[in-house]
Amino acid sequence: MNDADAKSLFDHALAVLHGNDRGNYIVPAGDLYPHQWLWDSCFISIGLRHLDVERAQQEIESLLRGQWANGMVPHIIFDPHPRHRRDHNIWQSWLNPHAPNGVITSGLTQPPMLAEAIIRVGQKMKLVDRRSWYAKIYPHLLAYHQWLYKDRASDSGLIILLHPYESGMDNSPPEVYEIREHAWPWWLKLLEVSRLDWPVNLVRRDVRHVPPGQRMSNVNAIAYWALLHHLRNRSYDSHDILSHKPKFALEDLAFNCILIRANKLLKDIAKSIGKELPEDIAEAMKHTEEALDTLWDEQTCRYYSRCLSGDSIYEATIATLLPLYAGVVTQKRAEELVRLMKKRTQFRTNFPLPSVPTISHSFNPEKYWQGPTWVNMNWLIMDGLDRYSFKLEAEELKKKTLKMVAEHGSYEYFNPLDGSPAGAPNFSWTAALTIDLLKS
Ligand code: GLC
Repeated sequence: MNDADAKSLFDHALAVLHGNDRGNYIVPAGDLYPHQWLWDSCFISIGLRHLDVERAQQEIESLLRGQWANGMVPHIIFDPHPRHRRDHNIWQSWLNPHAPNGVITSGLTQPPMLAEAIIRVGQKMKLVDRRSWYAKIYPHLLAYHQWLYKDRASDSGLIILLHPYESGMDNSPPEVYEIREHAWPWWLKLLEVSRLDWPVNLVRRDVRHVPPGQRMSNVNAIAYWALLHHLRNRSYDSHDILSHKPKFALEDLAFNCILIRANKLLKDIAKSIGKELPEDIAEAMKHTEEALDTLWDEQTCRYYSRCLSGDSIYEATIATLLPLYAGVVTQKRAEELVRLMKKRTQFRTNFPLPSVPTISHSFNPEKYWQGPTWVNMNWLIMDGLDRYSFKLEAEELKKKTLKMVAEHGSYEYFNPLDGSPAGAPNFSWTAALTIDLLKS
């Protein structure tokens, strides 16, 4: 990309972020996602650090205003304006005694990208400022990781998700499989066969803004809502939910890979301000690293998510490549993953990387998380490739990602076969990570 093209891409990305800026935080996309989302703001701050480091700090700190007293960082912090009352009432976070006063949030979390965001923003600060900022943020970050272990660790050492939303890859095949297997109400089966699901279109915000073929089906949307309702009835109390035959309990591969990396970064942050992690969490973190190996399937040579029953969910997705980002697999294993990444029937497409391998029965190039390319996934995988010294592969992925955004705009996701844009236009993390790729 020549300098003029890079400059015009940068200006486009900047305009997207400006357009979505609500003062203290940036929304993912004005119409479709009008609140603050957890991992979105983490990716956004990684772009913002190149523009204005204080604004990037603010993006992270405004996430922490939603942190619950038990340490959980919720996946959505709602705009309190009464016009969003319906969203507030769907979640009713106030039912849980740990929810913050005066801030309306969801009752679930999302992939723990917080530590990465804090480190990346910190890299742009002067040493003394960085240390004092880390010292201020550290207790919150530690409390979040402690909550994950206290509330969500399974005996295997991995973290359990209670709803597909927590994976951030809401409509990914393993999440859909798990909800269909275990959290599919009988009445939904009736609705599905009788095709009486259409009235749902009247209340779905997403299909008002995006072609329905690019979103989840109505019956899936209802199942997601029913599961949310079940969790809300238990006030989002993880212990209560997990001790009463949970409907959805997933040891999600992507989430746990991101956590492994986040744990390492949490340790780095602690060290840089002269603190030691409490022994119990340090132990639990080691346990998670070791447990990643239990998700490996020797026969197919890849990692899979797992149901609480102990069965692997044999649905391959882009998460297959995230152990590169986790950074704890051997070089040999990393090479096997890179081989998969380069295979035509798997992840090699003209506009990489597809969120589901092209050969998979679940592959759909337009449906969100079931095939399209996402810039945040590319960013994570580039980071992993780089750390395992696959410099050329990382560089090639970066070039192709930038070209795709330059040609089609800052969309939520892209068709991996022809690059055509899909989902919400003017999507913030696509813009922010584009800025990061251009600047690093
Ligand atoms: C979609 C994505 C999720 C993201 C949210 C807001 O639900 O699946 O990862 O955080 O939109 O952008």
